[in-house]
Amino acid sequence: MTQRSSPPEDLARWSLVDRYYEGIVGAGDPVLTAALEASRAAGLPEIQVSPLQGKLLHLLARSIGARRILEIGTLGGYSAIWLARALPDDGRLLSLELDPKHADVATANLRRAGLSDRVEIRVGPATESLEKLVRASDPAFDLVFIDADKASYPVYYESAVRLSHPGTLVVADNVVRRGDVAEAGSVDPQVVGVRQMNERIARDRRVSATAIQTVGTKGYDGFALVRVDSVTEDRRFSAER
Ligand code: SAH
Ligand code: DHB
Ligand code: MG
Repeated sequence: MTQRSSPPEDLARWSLVDRYYEGIVGAGDPVLTAALEASRAAGLPEIQVSPLQGKLLHLLARSIGARRILEIGTLGGYSAIWLARALPDDGRLLSLELDPKHADVATANLRRAGLSDRVEIRVGPATESLEKLVRASDPAFDLVFIDADKASYPVYYESAVRLSHPGTLVVADNVVRRGDVAEAGSVDPQVVGVRQMNERIARDRRVSATAIQTVGTKGYDGFALVRVDSVTEDRRFSAER
């Protein structure tokens, strides 16, 4: 039998280490704390990335010099603040969110963070917003963060690659789920969605990928990191770069 949850003492220890490193590296400030408090007060689920994970996204975006970022799944805008802070003044973050209430909370949090000028939240089912983006010939994104409903990850992944240029980094959250991802027979739609995305990545000759398991305040989970190396199957963006 697979062990599905971690003993509480493990979570307590992982959280202690998260807090230790948050203090060492600086992974929080009054603006981020206010965003978390406003999200909690509004009754949003507390499933945003952890502070250290937010800073990881921020550092990845800065490391690749991201100027255009796409986020799928805004919630209260916590990861959006981390990502948008990595942008130059003329950079742009587009974040897709289904729930108008989440989008309202995020809009207020981003305004308090002084980031309204570079962030746009588009409300609606992400598959529809992505379809429109693929049809429009906007410049490609430099970084895509996939973090909405896990059942749709295969679709989000395909759209992300279609909206990429060679060198784009695609990051997907929650790809381990306490180890459930390794269960080939799982009927959990979230696990099935992540596994279907992974099968596409495995066959996809346009990309180089890895996955990293994580423990911390959010428990045991992980990220997939996918670098788009070529987009030759969709030449629409290559002419621009
Ligand atoms: N990235 C956020 C957390 C996102 S939680 C952070 O770390 O701060 C997942 C979000 O995806 C929720 O707000 C949920 O409403 C949204 N979501 C769920 N299904 C969606 C869909 N079909 N289209 C767009 N967003 C969706
Ligand atoms: C859930 C969603 C997330 O994006 C996450 O990071 C953690 C949990 C969820 O839907 O339960
Ligand atoms: Mg997540």
